Amino acid sequence: MSEDLSYILNHLGEDRESGFNAVVPPIVQSGNFTYPTVEAMRAAVQNEMDKPLYTRGFNPTVAMLRSKIAALEHAEDALVFGSGSAAIAAAVLSFVKAGDHIVCVQKPYSWTKKLLVELLERFNVSHTFVDGTDAENYRRAIRPNTTFFITESPNSLTFELQDLTAVATIAKEHGIITLCDNSYSSPLFQNPIDLGIDLVAHSATKYLNGHSDVVAGVLAGSHKHIRQVMTKEFMTLGAVPSPHDAWLLMRGLRTLELRVHRSADSAATVAHFLEGHPRIKRVHWPGLASHPQHQLAQRQMRRVAGLLTIELNAPDEAAVERFCNGLDRFLMAVSWGGYESLQWPVCALKGPAGYFTELPFTMVRLYIGLEDPAALISDLDQALALM
Ligand SMILES: Cc1ncc(COP(=O)(O)O)c(C=O)c1O
Repeated sequence: MSEDLSYILNHLGEDRESGFNAVVPPIVQSGNFTYPTVEAMRAAVQNEMDKPLYTRGFNPTVAMLRSKIAALEHAEDALVFGSGSAAIAAAVLSFVKAGDHIVCVQKPYSWTKKLLVELLERFNVSHTFVDGTDAENYRRAIRPNTTFFITESPNSLTFELQDLTAVATIAKEHGIITLCDNSYSSPLFQNPIDLGIDLVAHSATKYLNGHSDVVAGVLAGSHKHIRQVMTKEFMTLGAVPSPHDAWLLMRGLRTLELRVHRSADSAATVAHFLEGHPRIKRVHWPGLASHPQHQLAQRQMRRVAGLLTIELNAPDEAAVERFCNGLDRFLMAVSWGGYESLQWPVCALKGPAGYFTELPFTMVRLYIGLEDPAALISDLDQALALM
């Protein structure tokens, strides 16, 4: 059977015969697996990443999800982790050694930045952050010891894109491995492997699960690369998901196509409303013709997803707070990608922890969920009037 999207989301990998032919796969909530003979156990020990021996290495429920993620990202194989940060950290750690240098897009996800600045520096792995809106900046930053490029296109706060084909071409010329954090787009709106990128990571906490009830991550790539990560960093660091979380993720995937299109459609409606509003200074969303990288977005992404950032025409932080506190339909919370619309005021995260000190206090990130967009717009309108 061909692996069209609906087949991947609803059937691929589900192996119903080994689960009593239940329509919904049972959750194999077991940490451990038993063998009838020494010979059978010996065979499993030889291949504990592909056979049920111990759930850190292989679990049948997690394995179903792995095959779906690989197919969605047009990859040969995939791994599922206990968080997106774990997936990114395991991938980077697997491909660098002491003395190496990494080039990373500036303003990546905050814990990706911490991985480079606070963890890898201790092990003599250096890095350079570059403005990724010009792919040539990756080339300019290459040193003789550069082994890894990190991209995140677009990032999830200011939405700068990188030309992934151009970055991947530069990397290949120099034998450098590339990773793209593709959380923003989900595999439905962008497939970095088709553009030449080696490894694709997601915070599966976001669109892939889509119900705000699981923290998880995925990594997709070639058999060779995924096997390398699995046999070393994945097994050693042990940041594996529970079978129950993998099962919830599969349930979330059933509606992935419906959810991402609804979120993107509503985001377009909201972004156009906000762009024309006198109390809005700027809307950061690559789907708008006014976005400086709109053409690259059209070329590289199938669609632009449902996360955007606004800059308010607010005289002071008190006005920003009046707007945020006045929103009824946008829950104030971090993360995104679930069913519910969210707001994330940059001014709430500044402070001693040192987050986003370089960004204006007038910025508020909005995630557009599955609610009626007309209700979201009228809520935004009344809250803007409170400023
Ligand atoms: C773009 C992006 N990448 C990675 C992560 C990390 O994922 P997780 O929170 O699942 O560890 C996040 C989470 O917010 C994110 O937004």
